[in-house]
Parts: sequence; C-alpha cells; structure tokens
Amino acid sequence: MTSTGTRRSSIDALLDQMTLEEQVSLLAGADFWRTVPIPRLGIPSLKVTDGPAGARGGGPLVGGKRTAAFPVGIALGSTWNPELLHEIGQHLAREAQDKGAGVLLAPTLNLFRSTLNGRNFESYSEDPFLTGTLGTAYVRGLQSKGVAATVKHYVGNESEYQRNTISSDIPERALRELYLRPFEMTVKQGGAWAVMTGYNRLNGTYCSENARLIRGVLRGEWGFGGLVMSDWGGTHSAGESVRAGLDLEMPGPAKARATLLEEARNDEATRQAVREAARHVLRLIERTGTFDQPRDVRDEAERDEEYGSTRALIRRAGAEGTVLLRNEGGLLPLPRDAEVAVIGPNAAAGQVMGGGSAQMNAHRRVSPLEGLRAALGEENVTFAVGCDNDRFLPTLDVPVRIEYFGEGGEAIAAETRQGSEIMWFSFPEGVSPTAFRARLSLTLTVPGDGEYELSLFSAGLSRLAVDGKELIDHWTDWAPGDTYFGFGSDEVRVTRSLAAGEHQAVIEVTPKAVENSIAAFSAVRLGFRQPLPKGRLREAAERAAGADYAVVCVGTNGHWETEGVDRWGLNLPGNQDDLVRAVVAANPRTIVLLQTGGPVLMPWLDQVPALLQGWFPGQEAGHAFADVLLGHADPGGRLPQTFPARLPDDPTHPEAPDVQYPGENGHVEYKEGLYIGYRHVDRAGTTPLFPFGFGLSYASFELMDARLSAAEIGPGGEVSVIVLLKNSGERPGQQVVQVYVRDVETTLERPEKELKAFGKVTLQPGQVWQGYLQLDMRSLAYFDDARSAWVADAGAFEVLIGTSSADLPFALPLTLTGEWSEPVS
Ligand code: BGC
Repeated sequence: MTSTGTRRSSIDALLDQMTLEEQVSLLAGADFWRTVPIPRLGIPSLKVTDGPAGARGGGPLVGGKRTAAFPVGIALGSTWNPELLHEIGQHLAREAQDKGAGVLLAPTLNLFRSTLNGRNFESYSEDPFLTGTLGTAYVRGLQSKGVAATVKHYVGNESEYQRNTISSDIPERALRELYLRPFEMTVKQGGAWAVMTGYNRLNGTYCSENARLIRGVLRGEWGFGGLVMSDWGGTHSAGESVRAGLDLEMPGPAKARATLLEEARNDEATRQAVREAARHVLRLIERTGTFDQPRDVRDEAERDEEYGSTRALIRRAGAEGTVLLRNEGGLLPLPRDAEVAVIGPNAAAGQVMGGGSAQMNAHRRVSPLEGLRAALGEENVTFAVGCDNDRFLPTLDVPVRIEYFGEGGEAIAAETRQGSEIMWFSFPEGVSPTAFRARLSLTLTVPGDGEYELSLFSAGLSRLAVDGKELIDHWTDWAPGDTYFGFGSDEVRVTRSLAAGEHQAVIEVTPKAVENSIAAFSAVRLGFRQPLPKGRLREAAERAAGADYAVVCVGTNGHWETEGVDRWGLNLPGNQDDLVRAVVAANPRTIVLLQTGGPVLMPWLDQVPALLQGWFPGQEAGHAFADVLLGHADPGGRLPQTFPARLPDDPTHPEAPDVQYPGENGHVEYKEGLYIGYRHVDRAGTTPLFPFGFGLSYASFELMDARLSAAEIGPGGEVSVIVLLKNSGERPGQQVVQVYVRDVETTLERPEKELKAFGKVTLQPGQVWQGYLQLDMRSLAYFDDARSAWVADAGAFEVLIGTSSADLPFALPLTLTGEWSEPVS
C-alpha cells in the first residue's frame, strides 16, 4: 500500500473511532491559536501563528516573545526572486516551530487593487503572476520543512473598509484572471496545505460559507485536499459553512459553530460534511508531523544568537528588495569615507514592519542611523529628526501594573507588563475576558517643567487620570474609530503642563460588547511625549549643510500602514515633504530613503538627485540600507506596484469616493475589471510617477538579444524566450528580465499586455547571462466566462521583453496555429 493509502486508512480509522461530538469539536479552535486536542485518541492540538513576515507565537501583537522579523510582503515582492522566497520560507519554518506552531498564517496573496489598501504592505504585487510565482516559492520553502502555509485571504479582500461585512463584487473574468490566480498557483504548483478565507463576502456570499469558492473552485477544480479555515471571527454559520467546505472556525472556542453538533445530529449532509472537515484537520496534524511530535504549544523559544544565518538572510533580502528609483549623476553609492547627516523621523526609528496581525516583537529594529553608524563610524554620522511622522503619540517603555477586579469590585488577579500599550489575548487565571475591570498604574517621568501631550485610545471602555485628575474619557464617551482592527476608538490627545518629576497615571479598562468582534478583544494604548520644539526643520537643514551627504529618512510606519483601516491618502504624513525640500536646498547631495508600505506622492522628486524605496525590510533594516547606500549590495528591487502620479490616476479613484472605492451600501464593485496597475496605465494612457517593474542598479545592463525558440506553436505547445543579458558596467549588479504577452487577435477584450515570465540574475562586470524563460498555453490564455474555460485564441501574439513595464525594447511575433482551450470543470 502507498504511504498515502496508509495515511488515509489510519485517518479513516481514527475518524471511525471518533464520536460525532469529537469530530465536531475539531472544527473550531480551542482558543486563539490552537485546535482542540482529543487525548483519548492521541490527537494532539495543532498551533497556528501569524505570519507572514515572521512567526509571532501565541503572545500579544506587541510585547510578546521575541522573534525574527523578515521583510514585509511588498519588500519581498520587490525582489522578484523566487529562490530567495524559498529560502525565507525554510527559515520561517524553523521560526514557527520555535514558537510551537505547525502552521504559519501566510502568505498574503491579495492583489494591489487600490493604492489606499491598508494592508498593501503585506501583499506582494499588483500582478497575479508575480504574486503567484513568489507565493509558490514561499509555500514550498516553508512546507519543505514541515510547516503548513496558509494562503490568505481567499478571495477579494483588497481593502480594509468594512472588511468584516463588505461584498467584493468581482466580474468573473477579473476574478479568474487576477484575484484567484495567485491562489490557483500556490495550490496547484505550490501544494499549499491550508487556505484562509477572507472576512469579506464575494458577490454577496461570505467567503467562509461560499460553496462555489471552496467546494467548487478550490476543491473541485484545483483538487485542493488541505484544510480551509476562516479568518479570525470570520465564520458566520454552523452547518452551512461546514457544508460549503470550511473546515475550521477560528479562533475558538466555537461561536458561529456553537450549534453545529445539534445540526449534525439532525442532518445527514451536515454529518458527512463534519466527517470530511474533521478529516482535513487530522490530515493537517499529520502533514505537519504533529502526531509524531506534539509540540508543547505554550513553550516558545526566542532564538537569535544561534541564528546568524537568519540574520544574514534578512539583511540580504532587505537589500535585494530595496528599489533605486533615481540616481542622477551616479550620486550613489556613497564613498566609504563619506560624512553623512542622517535626517528625518525614520532615521533613528527602526521602521521594520507594518501593523496589525502581521506585527511581532522583533529581536532588533536596526534603524538607518544605527546601520550607517556601524558602517561609517560614529564620528562620520550626524543626526537630526527634522519633524515627526507619528499617527499616534509614542508609547512609554515602562512597567505597567495591572490589577483585575470582578463585577462586584473584588480583586481577582494582578500582573505586570512592560510598555504602555496592552492587548489582551490572554488573561490571568480567573479573569473573564468579557466581564473584567482592570486598573493599570504606571509612572510618568517628566524630565523638565513644560507642556506635554498625552493620548489614549482603546478597544473596550477606558479612561485616564494623572495624579488623580481625569484627563481622557473613553468610558462615558466612547465612540468607534479607526484603531484596533476597527474595534477601537480614535486617539484622543490632550496637552497639559507638568512639573519635572514623577507623576502617577491610572487607566481603567473594561470590555465593551462589540458586534462581530473577534472573541472579546480588549486593548488600550497610552501615548506620551514632549512636543518637538520649534526650529527642528532649520536644525535639520543646518546639519545637512554641514555634511558631505544628507540621507533623509522619510515615510510612514506600522500605525499608518496597518490592518483594519485603509491608508490615509497618498501624501507623506506631517511636514515630511517640507523637510525633504529644506534638506535638499541645504545640501544638493541629498539622498531620500523612503520607507512606506505602498506608493506615495513625491512633489519634490525633480529636486532630489537620488531616491531609494526601502519599504519595511525586517529587523536588519538599517544594515540592509547601509549595504545599499555604500554599494556593498546592489539595490536589487524592482517595483511590484505602479506608483501613480496622482490619486485620480489610481484605477479605483476616478473621482470622489463611490461604490468602486471604498464601496457603498455594503458593496465594493470591481468596476475596473481587468484593469488594475499597469494594465490600467496601458489603457488609460496615464504616465505614472514610476512604472511597474522599474528599478535601477549600480551596474549597467544591456539586453543584447531576445529570441523565441519557435515563431509558431500549436495548441498545447510551449515556447522558450531566450535572452542574452550583459552586465556592461563596472560593478556587479542584479537585473530582472520581464516578459509580457500581448494578444494581437483576441476575441474578447484584453489588457494591452500581461506579465507571464521573468528571470532575476546577478551578474559580474562583463558577464553575460543566457536565460530561458518559459511560456505555456496559460501564458497566452484569457478566461472566457461564457464558455467557463481558459482560451488561447488562434492567431497572432506579441512577446514583449525588457526590464520594466515601460521599457520593452523587444517585441517578438508568435503565432498560435489553432485555438487552445481548457474548461475549468
Ligand atoms: C487577519 C489574518 C490573521 C488573523 C490572525 C486577522 O485579523 O486578517 O490575516 O492571520 O487575524 O491573527
């Protein structure tokens, strides 16, 4: 018997021994991160963890166990390097296992549809082929070491606006050709073991109970045999969701599925679906090796020192995702003996990740200032902050004493945590998550008499008093806002005169009943700072003038680029545009180092000679940037997203907010259909600030030749694109050769061109690469919704080859001699 056969029969034997009640118990989590164990049958608990840029473990989003922080999705998307993603996947497997988890909730495969999507930073690209190729490599790397990937969020979760309820209304062709495609690739080619459904509805039906999506497309058409779980709090029905093919409600204990046992008792179809879903849970436990090696899921290791290779990999990946967007007169790389003024709100702050469920407690957050000081020597690097770019006031890194009281006011428990932001994912023994009262006490140390800003926001009711005087009230005056995944209030700020010395702050918190809440989530955050004195911009300009070079570190952070709320707009927050202008006016040798999770506008672009887009590249950020700035590494990144010149040039922002973005009356209509990103640019004829696929190298490359292995192919055939690329410069460098297909004689309307192959190489000076990039029938096909089939029309195509979507010097004719089609079911 084959091993699969053995496995199946042992899982079947287990299922036969299980009572219906036990089967049902497997279909919702035990808690936030674990499945229910059944000791009687030796079935262990399986632990899952976020994802995607590291393995956070079971702790809170902030202040949990330390872990390695890898580059965020868009930074990995910029690398265009599947081998690198494979390697990262392998390292992440070890990270997940160190946290006791067999499943990583990653990668995020949603596409960049609107530039305002709050989770833009978490995904790879606007292009489905690039996303699917990178996702496949990540999944394979991770799973090769026994940890399950969970491709998410299936499907149509391209914005955070009303994400728990909104219906993404996606025309069939756009769904097939764009949004489903990365999932199809990671399932069929990557062999993903798990899928997470989106919070949203698709064309009216919640993804988590969408039988067409789960049973039809995923299992039926693509042959998926793994586990399907809901997003956290995204299960909306008991029997219906199980019958639609959703295996696991997360988190637990069961909420939507509280009535499942009863339904299953009374209905044969539900009973069968329960058995099938339980089988998928058992199979995942088996695939991740958890039967053989049940992990003590509460025991989370913090390994850093032993993992030098992980650190080195993160640093290399950070540099490889950094995109050189401008380099007038070859200002970069900097000479090794440069004296540099490092300026800006992101200079001394290591902005290494985005916000939301993707955040974690990184081992380190190396800032650009630290990175450059390490590379150039302390004495050669000066610093000025210039302005701030805070969305919220900074938190305090102080001990916080938390006392818990019961409903009658009796003291139940107490604990001490570090930092003035507390998120409750777990509670001390005896404290009810839905009915506690907490009093948080901390000391504010005020350095000198003066004005100070304080702020507070919370998921749950809260109020702040300092020295016994109430300052902020989210208790009698709670109003919903844009924090904590949409469950929090907005930040309220007050300014107070405080005398030098210690002040006692007390915050009271109690949960608030929220509809649709992910398991009674409570959190509170106290911000505190002394306002920046006036004249900081001038000081920054002076610092810049006094150095050989100025590196201005501007951008955003994980409070701006986060889950639960869309991006604020496309302008750099605060006075950062003014800061860039002031610095470049003071020193013409200015380099802008931009760190954002997506496009921003750059009104100063023409005045600035050099510009790097560094994204959020993980814990080694500052070292990776120093490597690029000094030329120890080539800036290997190419934009995985079009940077529009103005917000109205974004495909989803024709005029005012409407049903196309962010949505109206519970629906967001993907009216632009197939035309997102460069597909939209081609059709609308706009000129982006920077096109998809663009990025410079320190080397110079010459695309010497490009040919096809055949000018004609028949239905079912393949063709190779053979390219000759030379590094004609004097430094080693990286280049990405990109292959787009244009359908010249198409029956249905199609985008002008679509990315269908690419290859990334590192070449030494003078070295020539002969690359073979494959095109198959799916590279030529569109989805014919009337025939429910992939169709490549007979006739003429053009294969366009170059190094960005806007620089394609080769256009090679290709003929398909007869129609090819493949029905989907
Ligand atoms: C996110 C998921 C994440 C889950 C668990 C949700 O809010 O949408 O991506 O994996 O939380 O943290």
